[in-house]
Amino acid sequence: MDLAYMAALPMEEFAQRRAKVFELMQEDSLFLVFSDIERRRNDGCDYPFRQDSYFWYLTGFNEPNSALLLRKQQGEQQAIMFVRPSDKLLEIWNGRRLGVDNAPQTLLVDTAYAIDEFVPQFKNLVQKQTALYYAPKQQPWGDALLEQSAVEFLSVFNWKPMLGEMRLFKSENEIALMQQAGQISALAHIKVMQQTRPNRLEYEVESDILHEFNRFGARYPSYNSIIAGGENACILHYSENDMPLRDGDLVLIDAGCEFAMYAGDITRTFPVNGQFTEVQKAIYEIVLQAQKRAIELLVPGGSIAKANEEVIRIKTEGLVRLGILKGDVDELIEQKAYREFYMHGLGHWLGLDVHDVGEYGENRDRTLEPGMVLTVEPGLYLSKEADIPEQYKGIGIRIEDNLLITDYGNKNLTSAAPKEIADIEKLMADA
Ligand code: GLY
Ligand code: MN
Ligand code: MN
Repeated sequence: MDLAYMAALPMEEFAQRRAKVFELMQEDSLFLVFSDIERRRNDGCDYPFRQDSYFWYLTGFNEPNSALLLRKQQGEQQAIMFVRPSDKLLEIWNGRRLGVDNAPQTLLVDTAYAIDEFVPQFKNLVQKQTALYYAPKQQPWGDALLEQSAVEFLSVFNWKPMLGEMRLFKSENEIALMQQAGQISALAHIKVMQQTRPNRLEYEVESDILHEFNRFGARYPSYNSIIAGGENACILHYSENDMPLRDGDLVLIDAGCEFAMYAGDITRTFPVNGQFTEVQKAIYEIVLQAQKRAIELLVPGGSIAKANEEVIRIKTEGLVRLGILKGDVDELIEQKAYREFYMHGLGHWLGLDVHDVGEYGENRDRTLEPGMVLTVEPGLYLSKEADIPEQYKGIGIRIEDNLLITDYGNKNLTSAAPKEIADIEKLMADA
């Protein structure tokens, strides 16, 4: 088998997921999911291709312009792939294709057709099926093909809740890949702590991170890296990364690799020159204490919402202690006074996507269960414009780790990246 078509998971695992979907489908129904397509960056240049995560989850197939059709009829199950046909000339110009003939054996499906044949074949394949499982708008090019086929169904069910639920619980194999994603991401954070110096550009640090990901087998980051020096850290999704790092500032780095399609998502905040000031320490300690407490609470039976309540209390108490917030802690919590300085959630599911799918419950109160993977990422952002004591202005701190919920607690997949002040300072001093 060609390496380009090999998933890091055994192909049988994808087949097992399809078997599970077949079980959940009603009799005489179809289930249709499209791959992603190549996306244009500018004339003559595409973005690197990244497969649709739902499609990947059920196929392990990394080519664009493909579709998977599951057909359940009178007790029979058929998995059908539509793929780009082999094309000598196009393959010379644009790269290899698996092709129709190789698809069944490689992808463990029953039949394959060329994607160009989708409309007539789909019409043919629909016989007694009255229901279609389909997620409109997930792949607009697929919506267009489906519309062209002009087949009417009695009912259309969105498969997103079904696949979201399946993807939320990671298998042993997936956990192994996510551990690797977490470990590689952590190694990259260690590396840049060792290499960061005043006057280096934020994007130089970004390239060091990417280099470290690459060295360990992760070709891409799982999202655009955030390298935010000084007050840039108060912009939550800062991605310009084009400013020099200044002596005396902190730098917030939110970067994770994508390993075998699975995301790591780590944030560390550390001093550009290797030594925290007393003021920076004071804020950092609040965030760290909140994060460590949250990790204790993110266990089976707990929830993101419950952990966040304690995070909010720790932060509010800390901000009052430093004179950044003024008043009674309980009243300030009641008024959500912290929102000015902590304006995002405590964490999110993590998996094939960095903000992975899966139901959160109301206000993230879903009970945690073994096999879930999530981030824990409290932060404090004290903007230059805030009405707070001068010395705290322009400080932004977030500390983010990735947790696997286990039978008895959790496992921190990213603990290799230091976060204690003394450990960071030592690592940077020794470098
Ligand atoms: N890196 C995106 C996030 O932390 O949610
Ligand atoms: Mn992050
Ligand atoms: Mn995150």
